[in-house]
Amino acid sequence: MNTCFKAEKISENVFWVGAVDWHVRDFHGYKTQRGTTYNAFLIIDDKITLVDTVKKEFASEMLERVASVVPLEKIDYIISNHSEPDHSGSLPEAIAAIKPEKVFASSFGAKTLKPYYGIDAEVVPDGSSVSLGKGNITFVETRMLHWPDSMVSFYDRDGVLFSQDAFGMHLAGSKLWADEYPVDILDYEARKYFCNIINVQSGKVLALLESLPQLDLDIKIVAPDHGPLIRKDFDKVLALYHEVATQAPVPRAVVIYATMWHATEMLARAFADGVRSQGMEVKILDLAVCDRSEVMTEVANSGLVAFGAPTMNNNVFPAMMDVLTYVRGLKPLNKIGFAFGSCGWSGEGAKQISEQINLMKMEQPLPFLQVKYRPSDEEMKRAFDAGFQLAEQLCAKCAK
Ligand code: FEO
Repeated sequence: MNTCFKAEKISENVFWVGAVDWHVRDFHGYKTQRGTTYNAFLIIDDKITLVDTVKKEFASEMLERVASVVPLEKIDYIISNHSEPDHSGSLPEAIAAIKPEKVFASSFGAKTLKPYYGIDAEVVPDGSSVSLGKGNITFVETRMLHWPDSMVSFYDRDGVLFSQDAFGMHLAGSKLWADEYPVDILDYEARKYFCNIINVQSGKVLALLESLPQLDLDIKIVAPDHGPLIRKDFDKVLALYHEVATQAPVPRAVVIYATMWHATEMLARAFADGVRSQGMEVKILDLAVCDRSEVMTEVANSGLVAFGAPTMNNNVFPAMMDVLTYVRGLKPLNKIGFAFGSCGWSGEGAKQISEQINLMKMEQPLPFLQVKYRPSDEEMKRAFDAGFQLAEQLCAKCAK
């Protein structure tokens, strides 16, 4: 096998054998402006073990990296921590080339790998360990983080926690380690990744963070399946996860709107200025240029969320319903919401937004604001006042 693609050593007995996807920009709706990586790892022990694989189109690159360390047929085990195809897509090819003695997965993982690929995996129960010879690997289920099958595995000889989606981010780069990237990029991408992928399971994240110390793992390296690996300041990553999973109200606002002839846009700008006049930070997002994942990132980072859109054919403008559906599914907590919009005649839009805000269980202290054609001076003032009042209420809520 050509070994142009090399493995990179990350600890005494573990190598990175993944792939960098520089150009992926759309991860089923999540805009990955900085690309991503699919990380896979090779453990060299008496039982040589491949941990996770990569997206299907990078299979040969991964196998070349593996072969740069050890002939493929020498590999004994494959561990599938997570069966979503960005990590399992290359499994069939890897199994065909390696012919491993065993493929390990969680009970849900085994149930997923069979229908996806016809793979018969050996189930490793939660908390169980497998000896690789000189070191052991321990499996801890992390159900729903990100799928029901998800688990993490810990290699005690080198202190490496293979954390699959957890603690990852979508960030392509030629450096392996988080401490080799600017802190502000890591912070933004980690938050964006959390709130677009894991936010819906914030309660489970908090439970996991609480239980992690009890496992008494001597973690030296955290090796997620996406983005850079962590060898320093893991406590800071845990603190960030705790902060975002807690979803405490934040004194910040975001105004999300769609517009056809600028009437809704005018209301959005007036509302935002009302917020601003309280001294509160506010951001305006136009759905013509901002995508769902950007919207969700800002929603998660704001205590006050205003949604505005026109009415189109007796319904709310479709781009707004797309975003509302997406945000609702991710279950943001502790928000104050506000609905507004413009219409020509029938005017269902703002009411439908308001109903969605209720379904999201956001507080909605003010009734929705619906205007016809173009907001009057009085309606612009109502939008401004709504921003002013709700920002004031949010300040009081955050001060509690
Ligand atoms: Fe990166 Fe849930 O897969």
